[in-house]
Amino acid sequence: MTAKPFALQELPTDLMQERMPRHVAVIMDGNGRWAKRRGLPRIMGHRRGVDVLKSLLRCCRDWGIEALTAYAFSTENWGRPTEEVEFLMTLFERVLRQELQEMMQEDVQIRFVGNLVMLPRSLQAEIERAVTETQKNHGIRFTVATNYGGRQEILQACRAIATQVQAGQLEPEEIDQAVFERHLYTAGICDPDLLIRTSGEMRISNFLLWQMAYAEIYVTNTLWPDFNGEEFHRALINYQQRDRRFGKVNAP
Ligand code: IPE
Ligand code: IPE
Ligand code: MG
Repeated sequence: MTAKPFALQELPTDLMQERMPRHVAVIMDGNGRWAKRRGLPRIMGHRRGVDVLKSLLRCCRDWGIEALTAYAFSTENWGRPTEEVEFLMTLFERVLRQELQEMMQEDVQIRFVGNLVMLPRSLQAEIERAVTETQKNHGIRFTVATNYGGRQEILQACRAIATQVQAGQLEPEEIDQAVFERHLYTAGICDPDLLIRTSGEMRISNFLLWQMAYAEIYVTNTLWPDFNGEEFHRALINYQQRDRRFGKVNAP
């Protein structure tokens, strides 16, 4: 059983190149429900979800999107049954190992955001290898949020900044948005322009809280394992029709 292909390679003619998002973020939700509806164990949904993510990454690259960030595991997801958590950790490790060569061929630069030291050692090693090997690639920047929580990210930034102040390396007045952003996991990556969440849930679930300040949010009822090129195309058409004001007013 393979996921539906993202058939299109060229940018569809009804999308404007100059209005494409630079950075797309996805909350890949609905794997469990997808499996349940088919009478399958939840993990089958996660397995299929990986194929969808791979296709989306390729599609973003083909359509000239600079960065894709995917929410793979939240700090709250540890509260799931042990078998599911263990399956996910093993899946991440296996996929990383299997896909590294292809990521090199496709010039993908992968990085991870989240509290990685709490992940299994073997997964940490695989992450380290993939990040190091792909760091000089210049194609799409692919960020995977693993054991990621927006609140935890903000707290660790505060702690790091407070430590610098305590050591006399930084004055409190010097703490501005730029300084703060340098202490986030996402330092150096532009904020997401478009957030897509599948499975119809209208919430952020602790994802990129700081970075999402002005992201355009698109929610589809489609479950993540059924998300495909057509759906992504629809999300982009919708995004291109948005009026991004950033708090200002448009000229009459
Ligand atoms: C998202 O799908 C994947 C992860 C959180 C790892 P879910 O597993 O949350 O699927 P639902 O929401 O239970 O259907
Ligand atoms: C968000 O989905 C986390 C990931 C997709 C990794 P959840 O399924 O964990 O979020 P809630 O529980 O619906 O808020
Ligand atoms: Mg869910």
